[in-house]
Amino acid sequence: MRCYYSLSVLVSLLLMLILASKVVTLSSSCQNESCGNVKIPYPFGIQQGCYLNEWYRIECRNATLPFLFKMGMEVVDISLPGEGYISYSATSSFGSIRVRNPMTSVGCSRDGKETGSVLNLTGSPFFFGRGNSLVAAGCNSKASLTNIEPRTVGCELNCTASKETSLRRSVPFLDKTGCSSDALPYTDEWVNCTNKELEGERSCDGNGCCSAVLSDDDAHQVIGVSIEDFDYGISTSRGCRVAFLTDEVYTLSNATKPQSFFAEGYATVTIGWAIQTNALSFLNSLSCKSRKEYHNFTKGIRHRTSCLCNNITISGTSYANCGCNRGYTGNPYLFNGCQDVNECQRDSDGRRLAWDCTESDACVNRVGHYHCVRTVTILIGVGAGFGILALAGGIWFLRKYIKKRKVTQRKKKFFKRNGGLLLEQQLNTREGNVEKTRIFSSRELEKATENFSESRILGQGGQGTVYKGMLVDGRTVAVKKSKAVDEDKLEEFINEVVILSQINHRHVVKLLGCCLETEVPILVYEFIPNGEKPVITLPDSQEIRGLADHFRAAMKENKFFDIMDARIRDACKPEQVVAVAKLAMRCLNSKGKKRPNTRQVFSELENISSSQEDSLVEIEIEDGDDEEEEGMNMIHIADAPTIGVTAPAFSVVASSSSSDVKPLLPRSTW
Ligand SMILES: *[C@@H]1O[C@H](CO)[C@@H](O)[C@H](O)[C@H]1NC(C)=O
Ligand SMILES: *[C@@H]1O[C@H](CO)[C@@H](O)[C@H](O)[C@H]1NC(C)=O
Ligand SMILES: *[C@@H]1O[C@H](CO)[C@@H](O)[C@H](O)[C@H]1NC(C)=O
Ligand SMILES: *[C@@H]1O[C@H](CO)[C@@H](O)[C@H](O)[C@H]1NC(C)=O
Ligand SMILES: *[C@@H]1O[C@H](CO)[C@@H](O)[C@H](O)[C@H]1NC(C)=O
Ligand SMILES: *[C@@H]1O[C@H](CO)[C@@H](O)[C@H](O)[C@H]1NC(C)=O
Ligand SMILES: *[C@@H]1O[C@H](CO)[C@@H](O)[C@H](O)[C@H]1NC(C)=O
Ligand SMILES: *[C@@H]1O[C@H](CO)[C@@H](O)[C@H](O)[C@H]1NC(C)=O
Repeated sequence: MRCYYSLSVLVSLLLMLILASKVVTLSSSCQNESCGNVKIPYPFGIQQGCYLNEWYRIECRNATLPFLFKMGMEVVDISLPGEGYISYSATSSFGSIRVRNPMTSVGCSRDGKETGSVLNLTGSPFFFGRGNSLVAAGCNSKASLTNIEPRTVGCELNCTASKETSLRRSVPFLDKTGCSSDALPYTDEWVNCTNKELEGERSCDGNGCCSAVLSDDDAHQVIGVSIEDFDYGISTSRGCRVAFLTDEVYTLSNATKPQSFFAEGYATVTIGWAIQTNALSFLNSLSCKSRKEYHNFTKGIRHRTSCLCNNITISGTSYANCGCNRGYTGNPYLFNGCQDVNECQRDSDGRRLAWDCTESDACVNRVGHYHCVRTVTILIGVGAGFGILALAGGIWFLRKYIKKRKVTQRKKKFFKRNGGLLLEQQLNTREGNVEKTRIFSSRELEKATENFSESRILGQGGQGTVYKGMLVDGRTVAVKKSKAVDEDKLEEFINEVVILSQINHRHVVKLLGCCLETEVPILVYEFIPNGEKPVITLPDSQEIRGLADHFRAAMKENKFFDIMDARIRDACKPEQVVAVAKLAMRCLNSKGKKRPNTRQVFSELENISSSQEDSLVEIEIEDGDDEEEEGMNMIHIADAPTIGVTAPAFSVVASSSSSDVKPLLPRSTW
């Protein structure tokens, strides 16, 4: 049982889907159907499968004349709901078709044949509504609409009145000028179809022609037109009289000749059309919203609702009338048939639907609606935009400034920590033509070494990294980034920097200056290309290659004066030279503890220079410890201790770089 129930539900669902898809997947050959000059929109159609049901079937006779197949009426025009409205307002009006309907005539044909008509639309989705009026032409008769009981609509034809009097007592006549022919009942908007200007002057007032309007808002499905003789007591020939329901405007100028009407035989009538609610699956497939619900929607949903349906009752039968919502246009009876209207687009006259947007406003189309962006708003927007830009710019500059300041402060801090102030002091106290230690800025060195690029690395050791650099003045230099300096050894470090930068000897790599504003002090040496190592080569080609060894050997063999520079020999007293040599020997001691520190070296040197006359120093050559230093054969500054008073690594690459190698220069004990 259960299974059967489920299956039947499934089957009915499928059926509904099939019925719905029949609508959705309307054959493309059904689109753009037309007959003669008449476009046939869905649910109307000519070909099989192109119309919703037989009521909407159009027969295209002789390929030019469309007929409502089931009603046998010639169709003049078919409009979709809301079509013909330029403005937003009347969106819920009905679709309409204009058909040619036979007139009622009396006494017009020679054989005395009378024509009459009752248009019976019962059971069809068609109906009469407002927009049609009864027009009669002739004399001494009374025309009226039948089958609309209990209402009576009619007018009298009295040809005895003179024009003057008839004008004064003109019978009200609905002149539809200014009203659309499809302004049918159940519209949301009330349309004022009164046009006083035309009334009176032109209206059919009863003298030769008369008219009456079907003013009630009820829709009718059966309407007949009848003509009765009306005796005014004047026995004048009645002649030909016609009466008809029409949507066209007739005035005295063109409605007074009943014979020509009779010859025509037909008048156009506007009938409304809707969808029978028994076509429920079709209506559901449209996914239109109910008009009743619509009022409860939020603004956003309202804008997104493209199509609305409404239930109406005509002659006791329920029908659905759908239409594209405000802001949309198209065919509501096609799935997704209602498309957004671009209210901002101008027509050929330069007008646009967004009537409340002034010329200076920016019109912005949205789905289902539009926005007028007032110039003031734009200005505010632009202003705000600029403001935000300026603010962002300001913040950016501030950040940059703060960053720069931070960097500067860092540099200052490092400079101080690395003994920069001490160095400056030293440099200031030293006068004369002494070559001064140059203080490089970190920027200068970054530039010289391409930001300490790896491609510039000459060598790397335990004490730091040496880069090849090019100064702004074009000099090639070796830049050594050493390791951090112990703070309490700063003074000595600085002193040595100062001293080393004053040494100008071909065997010693010259220190040009330093940079102290980096985290680790950077030393700048002159660059000695490979193969020009500052190595002493002796004339007797002894195996002693190192300056230190050479010096030590010379001292040992008492040949010290042989290796002495001639200038020194000539300028200095031998005692002084010997004293310095002895000091140097001490500095070359392989044992760190036995080596004097910089301060001691300075004071001794000062002593030596101040006590020129006294023979304070004796030559005393120490032996012993030095034996183990046979391996050291070069000026070995690169691996000097932390002070970094070292030659660039390139000078040592060829030699042993083991840590036991001792420097020539005074070695500090840190
Ligand atoms: C229908 O007509 C429109 C223009 O009037 C055209 O763009 C469209 O391609 C036509 N569709 C078919 C199926 O012929
Ligand atoms: C339609 O065509 C038939 C012949 O094909 C012709 O007899 C008839 O008069 C035509 N009707 C109209 C209204 O043109
Ligand atoms: C209109 O037609 C229906 C059926 O189609 C019929 O029942 C009704 O009597 C007709 N009305 C008139 C006034 O002829
Ligand atoms: C018709 O016109 C005559 C002459 O003006 C007038 O006497 C008569 O009352 C009119 N009849 C009607 C029904 O207005
Ligand atoms: C309808 O229009 C006429 C003339 O344009 C005017 O006199 C009349 O007041 C209008 N009626 C309403 C209800 O606005
Ligand atoms: C009758 O004449 C009026 C103007 O005088 C015009 O607006 C109207 O369309 C004419 N009606 C017909 C059916 O030609
Ligand atoms: C219209 O009528 C049909 C059938 O009676 C019903 O199913 C549907 O819900 C109604 N729609 C509205 C909006 O009232
Ligand atoms: C709309 O809302 C009102 C109250 O907010 C409620 O009474 C009414 O039933 C709602 N209508 C629909 C169609 O939901």
